[in-house]
Amino acid sequence: MTKRRKILVTSALPYANNSLHIGHLVEYIQTDIWVRFQRMQGHECIYVCASDAHGTPTMLRAEELNTPPEILIKKVSKEHRQDFITFNISVDNYLNTHATENRELTELIYDRLLSGGYIIRRTIKQAYDEHRKMFLPDRYVRGQCPNCQTPDQYGDSCENCGATYTPIELKNPISVISGTAPTVRESEHFFFRLQKFESELRAWVPAHVDAAIAHKLEEWFEVGLRDWDISRDEPYFGFEIPGNPGKYFYVWFDATIGYMASFLNLCRQSELDFDTFWEKESEAELYHFIGKDIVYFHTLFWPSVLSGANYRKPTGIFVHGFLTVDGKKMSKSRGTFITAKTFAKHLDPDFLRYYYAGKLGPNADDIDLNLEDFLARVNSDLVGKLINIASRCAGFIHKLNNGKMAADLMNGKLFSEFSEAGNEICTNYEKRNYAQNIRIIMALADLANQYIDEQKPWIKAKQPDEYKKVIGICSLGLNFFRLLVIYLKPVLPSLTERVETFLNVKPLIWEDTKSPLLDHTIEPFKSLMQRIESDQIEAIVTESLNQLPADQ
Ligand code: 2FM
Ligand code: ZN
Repeated sequence: MTKRRKILVTSALPYANNSLHIGHLVEYIQTDIWVRFQRMQGHECIYVCASDAHGTPTMLRAEELNTPPEILIKKVSKEHRQDFITFNISVDNYLNTHATENRELTELIYDRLLSGGYIIRRTIKQAYDEHRKMFLPDRYVRGQCPNCQTPDQYGDSCENCGATYTPIELKNPISVISGTAPTVRESEHFFFRLQKFESELRAWVPAHVDAAIAHKLEEWFEVGLRDWDISRDEPYFGFEIPGNPGKYFYVWFDATIGYMASFLNLCRQSELDFDTFWEKESEAELYHFIGKDIVYFHTLFWPSVLSGANYRKPTGIFVHGFLTVDGKKMSKSRGTFITAKTFAKHLDPDFLRYYYAGKLGPNADDIDLNLEDFLARVNSDLVGKLINIASRCAGFIHKLNNGKMAADLMNGKLFSEFSEAGNEICTNYEKRNYAQNIRIIMALADLANQYIDEQKPWIKAKQPDEYKKVIGICSLGLNFFRLLVIYLKPVLPSLTERVETFLNVKPLIWEDTKSPLLDHTIEPFKSLMQRIESDQIEAIVTESLNQLPADQ
């Protein structure tokens, strides 16, 4: 028996000011497949997430809607949670970062960083919007990148060269809120002394991020680490810094702490022990799934904040790429900015899970959802190949043997081939190489269909003296089907549930791949999955055309 691992997994926290879309779902699906796989292995795998409640965008959106931000984030967070349920994203807890647990932990961590000498105060000059009477957050100033000169860049980082800076360093700045040129005002801010962690980070990085990301970090180390501004002036929606009226923690400071807070909130409702997972010497594993745009926060700030506050650092940061639809950025005018809700209204969420799994590898390459290919792939692989195996075999088992499968395996060697493939599939899931697994599983599905084609049970079923053979062939076919469904269970949770009912078995686990189902009565075959029709995809695109946040 391999050791039962203790694993804590997170997905990046979506902002509580907008609906989830199919871009967000790349990450939640990627994370959920990994989590479900670990649980099927028998490991203790806890998965937490939350909505990221704070910051100026939320504050402004609440203002726009004429509602208190506390109400807005509750409403949006509830919708996020519902989308998670709809897409079978199996989080053990879903919080929002305005929760008490997050305030407690943020204050505690800040306190520890302060007494450790990791926080300094410095007066800085900042962009100020005289019309809105507020300092402008990084993302509300646009201008030219001071490093590579690319125009129209956000105030915190450059999309072109990846440089990070403060808005005041931007050339030709403009306030996104009022469209006017901001003035410059002074204010005292609190800085986290990132530089103090440089040697610790340099040593930590190689074993905890993939090679390509480590390479990127190498560039950032070369440029030099800068102290991180973790405070913001009012008006701001966030947690006020204790003892400093009018000063708030920057949303990104308490966002990553939100991972801990969601877990703490779960501990308070269960037997789980917080320290076991977060103490400095913890043996539990901690993984964060994130998009490639937020690597800096998770590989530099976050491990340093954890270390400075005397907590453990992550075991791994898993980075994925962005989503394009039909080769382009998601777009409202093309109807490809598709919310989770709109997708699920028209199609089975398992279909999207399957398609993404077929595209996802361990690296941060972007993935494309080609809507035509999506329809063809799901129909051909899942309905045409996978479900076909069961539908071709189940009828004969019922007709000729009252639903009872054979007592022996017709071809033990072939069964072993299917069963042994499980080892490679396991390794691939562990390494997040889902695309490779889909290829292996579909090649096995072809093999299973080929076996049935060659054996021709429908011809043998015409002669009573061949009935036993037919039952043997179809039972083996169903055993192939069962193994393929086990291999796909992390990807297709809803389909698997229907198959478990049809096969009349307990929830399938990885261990089940070792032994066949023999002398066992199954339920009558009912349709397990419907083909995608092109008008369903058209309906999704039509509904997404120019959809406004309020319609979502
Ligand atoms: O980029 C984002 O959408 C952030 N809300 C992610 C936060 S992840 C973590 F730090 F909380
Ligand atoms: Zn640049």
